[in-house]
Amino acid sequence: MNLAGFAGLETARKRFGDRTGAILETVSLRGKAAGKIDGAENWLFTADALQQATASIVAKHRAERLRGRTIHDVTCSIGTEVAHHVGRAIGSDLDEVRLRMAQNNVPNVLFARADALRPCSRDAVVLVDPGRRTGGKRVFDPEALEPPLSAVREVYRGRDIAIKSAPGIDYDSLEWDGEVEIVSLDGGVREACLWSAGLATAGRRATVLTSSGGVLTVTDAEPDDIPEREPGEWIINPDGAIVRAGLVRHYAARHGLWQLDPRIAYLTGDRVPPGVRGFRIVSRTSFNEKVLRQDLQRLGCGALEILVRGVDVDPDALRKRLKLRGGAAFSLVITRIGRDATVFICEAGSASP
Ligand SMILES: C[S@@+](CC[C@H](N)C(=O)[O-])C[C@H]1O[C@@H](n2cnc3c(N)ncnc32)[C@H](O)[C@@H]1O
Repeated sequence: MNLAGFAGLETARKRFGDRTGAILETVSLRGKAAGKIDGAENWLFTADALQQATASIVAKHRAERLRGRTIHDVTCSIGTEVAHHVGRAIGSDLDEVRLRMAQNNVPNVLFARADALRPCSRDAVVLVDPGRRTGGKRVFDPEALEPPLSAVREVYRGRDIAIKSAPGIDYDSLEWDGEVEIVSLDGGVREACLWSAGLATAGRRATVLTSSGGVLTVTDAEPDDIPEREPGEWIINPDGAIVRAGLVRHYAARHGLWQLDPRIAYLTGDRVPPGVRGFRIVSRTSFNEKVLRQDLQRLGCGALEILVRGVDVDPDALRKRLKLRGGAAFSLVITRIGRDATVFICEAGSASP
């Protein structure tokens, strides 16, 4: 349906009357959902529900882990998770509108209105994705979630359960005895998923997904012995899921890399892992803006990507102050090595060779 322009709007008003607004919103939300939710062209959404929905690629990854099990999604919203489940599924939520949308979106699944804190199923794996936003701000306090994490844990004690949460959650303080999985998609960290002991296959896991179908997994079951050495030829900035999961050393050990500094997540080595961007080191100096400007001008630098960890530098402000006018592109890695703020001028972030 093409509703673009005033003529389209008039036609829509004549045809749909007071439902025109809802229809226009649905058309617009379907467009926005296209890259996120598979089959979005037939789905019903509210703007909030779409924004909170798990991206299909992430939901499919979770579904794969639960393949063949019966699941009960107790905060199902518009049905995104159950839509991707491979096996029997039921969905419930407190929100009537979302439940009716879910029934449209995933017609072959049973949806019912129920409070997640009053368990109404047995044996099924429980899936919980508590509401994470109040007033548009991200909520990291597990007790500010809806429903709160401690209440969820209490009522489902002993059940197989997967709890989706914001990636910024302080999982160390939760004393979770199952698995904590941090998931990223196309370089952005999307969620932490807490898997109960019965579903866990590791203590901590990083899952790195890409829209093109890539899946990389690192767990704390792998060795994390890495050497302490001077920087190699390359600097590697590990994916945020690996960093958030505390698995930088494990990832480094797998690929023969080591750290620039034991407290900083940048890795270095003489090879770049497949499919990863590496930064080939051109020079290393103590961080001094005047010297840096001269060095970059000498190299004819005009475009500069700046990566910073462990040093209080605003990359955009620094880039402006450097006033670069050359034609060449470089990357800067500014970080702390021991006590020293150190800057590496690197070739512009190169694909793995
Ligand atoms: C973040 S959304 C879930 C999104 C869903 N996983 C998806 O991918 O579309 C959280 C949902 O929890 C529901 N909710 C909040 N408290 C609840 C409760 N006590 N019982 C059931 N549902 C609840 C909200 O209505 C909302 O639909």
